[in-house]
Amino acid sequence: GGGEEDPAAAEAFPEDDITFVVPFSAGGPTDTVTRLVAEPIAEELGGTVVVQNVEGAGGTIAAGEVAAANPDGYTVLMHHIGMSTAPSLYPDLPYAPLEDFEPLGLVTQVPMTIVARNDFEPQTMEELVEYVEQNAADITLANAGIGAASHLCGLLLQEALGVELTEVPYEGTGPALQDLVAGEVDLMCDQTTNTTGQIQGGQIKAYAVTTPERVETLPDLPTTEEAGLEELQVGVWHGFYVPTGTPEGIREKLSAAILASLEDENVVSQLGELGAAPFSQEEATPEAHRQLLEDQIELWQPIIEEAGVAAD
Ligand code: MLT
Repeated sequence: GGGEEDPAAAEAFPEDDITFVVPFSAGGPTDTVTRLVAEPIAEELGGTVVVQNVEGAGGTIAAGEVAAANPDGYTVLMHHIGMSTAPSLYPDLPYAPLEDFEPLGLVTQVPMTIVARNDFEPQTMEELVEYVEQNAADITLANAGIGAASHLCGLLLQEALGVELTEVPYEGTGPALQDLVAGEVDLMCDQTTNTTGQIQGGQIKAYAVTTPERVETLPDLPTTEEAGLEELQVGVWHGFYVPTGTPEGIREKLSAAILASLEDENVVSQLGELGAAPFSQEEATPEAHRQLLEDQIELWQPIIEEAGVAAD
């Protein structure tokens, strides 16, 4: 059992496989980021990392499982912005992000894109605004469940457009994107780590990117601000967590390995190709991570409350 400070256990860590729990489907954006850094982290630790996808309820099933896991450093949660929105969305959330977890460090912040199936009528954001006004009830909007980044962005999009669309939940935007490519759903707001290939390949249509600056890999795509939706700003930050009670010596080893992975050449170039970048060494520390989590809980709470979208 973990919990107590045991210098010998920290010294020997890792003696077993470490599991990185991903709260969404395999092949989706969170999974992509996790698998990308898993290898250099394992190398740095001199151990083995296994990635496990635990899907459901917008990422909250996985977070609940890890919160209740043995705090020995062998069960690590990857989670994103959803860690900060879930407390406002779920009145009966079985964990408290700031009390039940120790943030280990941040990995990356990913822009989002507003995308549609290829034969969806509107060609530009301007046309989309007009089109949704007339057809709102018939338009489907995919997301990865309440608590997902795509859910939050979809919420902001509907507010910005002043309409209510028909939401179609998935267990990750990996499968949602497949349905978008197949023309089964109309619209989605999803991370560039998932959509870049299909946008560049012309398999889906894109209207805007949700960051203040354009994304280098998608240079023709206007920002939401340029497209007239200045309130629609969201970047999807990702970080790692262990359950509270995990010995400090083990946390320090994990955090150091995460920081080191952010300077890995392959990580930097792969993230760059997907429109993202690792956090800087100063921005990625456990302290900075905890601060960002606190700030984001405070930022999103009134916005979610006002929208009145809490889950049952
Ligand atoms: C995923 O990995 O499927 C995503 O991060 C889902 C989301 O939060 O929209």
